[in-house]
Amino acid sequence: MLGKINQLIAEIESFTAVTPEEVEQFRIKHLSKKGTIALLFDEFKTVSVDQKKEIGKALNDLKTAALAKVNALKDTLCAMDSGKTGLDLTLPGDLLQIGSRHPLSVVKNEILAIFNKLGFTISEGPEIEDDWHNFSALNFPEEHPARDMQDTFFLEKNPDIVLHTHTSSVQVRDMETHDLPIRLVTPGRVFRNEAISARAHCIFHQIEALYIDENVSFADLKQTLTYFAKELFGPDTQIRLRPSYFPFTEPSAEMDVSCSLCHGKGCNVCKGTGWLEILGCGMVDPNVLELNGIDREKYTGFALGMGIERITMLKYGIKDLRLFFENDIRFLEQFTAAF
Ligand code: DAH
Repeated sequence: MLGKINQLIAEIESFTAVTPEEVEQFRIKHLSKKGTIALLFDEFKTVSVDQKKEIGKALNDLKTAALAKVNALKDTLCAMDSGKTGLDLTLPGDLLQIGSRHPLSVVKNEILAIFNKLGFTISEGPEIEDDWHNFSALNFPEEHPARDMQDTFFLEKNPDIVLHTHTSSVQVRDMETHDLPIRLVTPGRVFRNEAISARAHCIFHQIEALYIDENVSFADLKQTLTYFAKELFGPDTQIRLRPSYFPFTEPSAEMDVSCSLCHGKGCNVCKGTGWLEILGCGMVDPNVLELNGIDREKYTGFALGMGIERITMLKYGIKDLRLFFENDIRFLEQFTAAF
């Protein structure tokens, strides 16, 4: 029996293979349940006691050699034929799928960057405000109907506390805390008690700009608006200002931009008018300056405010505002941006 074992060891050690099939056949021949080694282990039961030790060791060596041979052959074939086994270490790795920015963040950052170029720096304020900062300091007298322009969420236990209805409340905090001149943009989330629909939501986002200095004029406002509109919607964009009313600005205006989809010819997005309403603006009402401790004889200023949802919908042709809040990946992953 020792002779058979030694013969097999020699055979196993000299064996080579070029295909995985050959290795498998070799494994079946020697290492399967009915293979040569299993048969020898059967035969081992009949070996006399005094030979058991020597033959047992030889048998174990044989089995180890066979297993080592199979593993070594598998490894070499694998390395040689890595294309088939998928183990080509020179291939680039699997890329991790990274997220994309929310479209509202993309547009917000774009707008902020435009104002940053004009020297406006970013300022943010609290979402929970008192009546003074949201209304009174902005020239909304108590009981004045202008307060009904915005459906407000009041705190039930203390109606002096509100969820701010506009980022204009941040202007008030800016006037309190900043030295003059002031040149700030304030992005923020605002809240109004509105029914949720394709065009309205109880939460939305605004960006406000405020500039107060000596000799700030309506011409400065108009030039800023023109620059802003051309940067955001393209160099051919035209603007027009329509007289409007806000308690905190006098005179007040609403700005339209020429429709970037039909270039002013009229389409269903601009409802045939060729113009899209984008923002509210005006010269800071001298009463507001005075309410906030700024010398109304010495200083003037302009302010403007816009809804980010509306601008994003116009820029990307999004028809339903609710999409911004549903967090459906299929919607969100369509927006890639430099910002
Ligand atoms: N606060 C106004 C609103 O939410 C928007 C607005 C209009 C802001 C005119 C301004 C402005 O700063 O000058 O409806």
